[in-house]
Amino acid sequence: MVKAVVCGAAGGIGQPLSLLLKLNPIITELALYDVVNAVGVAADLSHIPTPAQVTGYLPPDNGAEKALKGADIVVIPAGVPRKPGMTRDDLFVNAGICATLAQAIANAAPKAFILVISNPVNSTVPVFAETLKKAGVFDPKRLLGVSHLDVIRASTFVASVLGKPTEAQKYSIPVVGGHSGATILPLLSQTKPAIPEILADKEKRDALVNRIQFGGDEVVKAKDGAGSATLSMAQAGAEFANYVIDAAFGGKKGKIVQSYINLAADAGGEAIKKEIGADLDYFSVNIELGPNGIEKILPIGQLDDVEKGLLEAAVKELGPSIEKGAAFQPAPP
Ligand code: NAI
Repeated sequence: MVKAVVCGAAGGIGQPLSLLLKLNPIITELALYDVVNAVGVAADLSHIPTPAQVTGYLPPDNGAEKALKGADIVVIPAGVPRKPGMTRDDLFVNAGICATLAQAIANAAPKAFILVISNPVNSTVPVFAETLKKAGVFDPKRLLGVSHLDVIRASTFVASVLGKPTEAQKYSIPVVGGHSGATILPLLSQTKPAIPEILADKEKRDALVNRIQFGGDEVVKAKDGAGSATLSMAQAGAEFANYVIDAAFGGKKGKIVQSYINLAADAGGEAIKKEIGADLDYFSVNIELGPNGIEKILPIGQLDDVEKGLLEAAVKELGPSIEKGAAFQPAPP
């Protein structure tokens, strides 16, 4: 019996994400919350014959808390997406939405796993953490920033450079750091199976790193004002949510993924600070999932010289984004 909630469920990401979660047979309750159209989306999905019973909620009468009550996992794609020319940092307007939703989660589902998709993830995850701390319910093991789109993009783009586009799922590339431009650090030297032909070709490698870091811009440009990645993000978000659900409720142990998290989640976080040479409280790292969410923070591992340079740039940009999120003060209700 697993209750999943999507906040921002009527949006470009929210709708396909809710559909994909409806298809997961472990989920028995799926509550959809949005400031518009959540009831309609829920009615639509409710006709699909899978176990999840779907309900929709709007803001009146404390709809957010009604949707969230008893949630095991909450996935949050609520907020404004990018338009051409905007960086993810320009989306800091979403901080207020995130603080409000964090407060509702603290009131109605303080033990839920919280998966943050709303951008800028580098700042919105600290906004969630600070709001939950003030409410006295913060558990860093249960707060996960979703940077998984960078991971699935890396597989696709690596396979494409290799001229093997149909084999993308075979390539696994850890992507650490943050979720925005230069903070995205793809560890191509750790790709499995190894890709020596790319590592040896500086031009190819630089172009590939740039495409992984700025892949989101391709979508924003192609959509030409109609938003940013929604379908690929929904797939990444659902896949990531399903990993968390499988580890917590499906007895599947040992899954290793990357997620942008608070490094206090596990003792391994201190070792990460040494590895990256910076005292950052948040970083996207390798984590092992389990019944409590983040079971272990694992080392980033060996970086080659190119990656050491990228790490320096990532750390520099990430620090101020974290501070901005952690210092955010929501307007009084
Ligand atoms: P969208 O505008 O299509 O949908 C956002 C939804 O959030 C709308 O339905 C809106 O009504 C709802 N919403 C607004 N305020 C709300 C509130 N207070 N409570 C609940 N729902 C609220 O936007 P889209 O394309 O779905 O993107 C959503 C967010 O996800 C954006 O911040 C975007 O930048 C981010 N994103 C994150 C990615 C990642 O890799 N983590 C990738 C792509 C987008």
